[in-house]
Amino acid sequence: MAEPGTAGPAPGMEASLRLHALAYSLGVTAAVTAAARLSLADVLDEEPQPVGVLAAAVGADREALGQLLRALACHGVFRETEEGTYAHTELSRLLRTDAPAGRRAMALLAGAPFAWQIWSRLDDAVRTGRSVFPDVYGTTLFQHLHEEEPELGMLFDRAMAKSGEATSAAVAAALDLTGTATLADIGGGRGTLLKALLEQHPGMGGVLFDLEKVVAAADPSLREDGALGDRCRLVAGDCHVDVPVKADTYLLKGVVHMWNDDTAVAVLRTIARNAPAEARVIMIEQVLDATRNPEIATVMNLLMLVSQGGRERTGGEFRALCERAGLEFRHITGTGSAVHLVEAVVPGRR
Ligand SMILES: C[S@@+](CC[C@H](N)C(=O)[O-])C[C@H]1O[C@@H](n2cnc3c(N)ncnc32)[C@H](O)[C@@H]1O
Repeated sequence: MAEPGTAGPAPGMEASLRLHALAYSLGVTAAVTAAARLSLADVLDEEPQPVGVLAAAVGADREALGQLLRALACHGVFRETEEGTYAHTELSRLLRTDAPAGRRAMALLAGAPFAWQIWSRLDDAVRTGRSVFPDVYGTTLFQHLHEEEPELGMLFDRAMAKSGEATSAAVAAALDLTGTATLADIGGGRGTLLKALLEQHPGMGGVLFDLEKVVAAADPSLREDGALGDRCRLVAGDCHVDVPVKADTYLLKGVVHMWNDDTAVAVLRTIARNAPAEARVIMIEQVLDATRNPEIATVMNLLMLVSQGGRERTGGEFRALCERAGLEFRHITGTGSAVHLVEAVVPGRR
C-alpha cells in the first residue's frame, strides 16, 4: 500500500503489484475528481465526522462514500481517525472551494470527461507525435473550450487562476523586474500573476494578453475601474496571428509548453517582431532536467502532447528554442516552486 500522501505504489512493493497499481492509478484520478464533484471537502470542518454524516451532507450512499474515502485516505487525502470516521488532511483541505491556492477546480478539470477521452488515445498521440484532440472533437482544445463547452472553458480558466496563486508568490520573489516600466503577460489567463506583480511594483505598468473570452473574465482589479486599472491594459487577441504589445519584459507562464517547437518558435518570433530591442522574454515553465517534481512534469509533458501536441522541455531544449526564434538565450533560474524562469532577450540589432 502507498504511504499516505505519496503518488504511486510503495517502492518496496513486488514488481507485479507495482505495475498493477500503476495500471489502475486512473482510479486515483477518478477518486479525487469524484471528491471534488461531491464537494466532500466543503462539508467537513475541523472536527472528524462519521461517514454517515458526510454521506447525508453530500447526498451519497453511505457504503459507497466509505469506499471512496478509504481509497482517498490511502493517498493522504482525508484521514480515518477511528473506524468509519474521517478528518481533513493538508491535501484534502486543498479540495475545499474556499482554500487559498486550492486545487478543487484543477481536480474537476483533471478528471473531466474530455480528459478521459483524450488520455484514452495517448498511444495514438505517441504514434503520430500529434494531439488527438482534433480527431476526437474535430477542433483544437481552446476552440472547444471557448465555443463548444464554455462552462468547461470557465473551469479551465478558474483552475489556472487558482493553481497560479500557489506559484505567483515564488515567481514574484524570483523575478527581478528592475528597469521594467511595462510588463506584458502573454497568455496570462485571468491575470493572477500580473496582479501580484503590479501590486509588488507600484511604479510599473502591465498588459494582460489572452484570448477574448479569457480577458473578458480578467481579475476585477485589472479592469479599467479596478484598483490596478490605471496601470493595466487588457488586450484580447490570438498570439498565433499577432501580439500587438510593446513591453520591456514579456512573460509566458505555462504557455510555451502547449506548443510543439515550430509553433513555439513562430509565437516567440511574433512577440519579438513587435518588441523593442533588448526586451526580455521570460518563459515560466517546468524544466524537465531541473525540476524537483519529475512525477508531475513528466505527466504534464504527456498531457501537453495528447491535448495540444505540445511538450515540456529540458534546459538545452529551451536554449535551442530561443536560438531558433532569434532570441539570445540568457539563463534559467529556479523559483523554489515547480517552475523555472527561462530568460532570453530580443537582440539589439535586427
Ligand atoms: C495553461 S494556460 C496558462 C495561463 C496562465 N499563464 C497561468 O500560468 O495560469 C494557457 C493560457 O494561454 C491562453 N491561450 C491559448 N491559446 C492562445 C492564443 N492563441 N492566443 C492567446 N492566448 C492563448 C489560454 O487562454 C490560457 O489562458
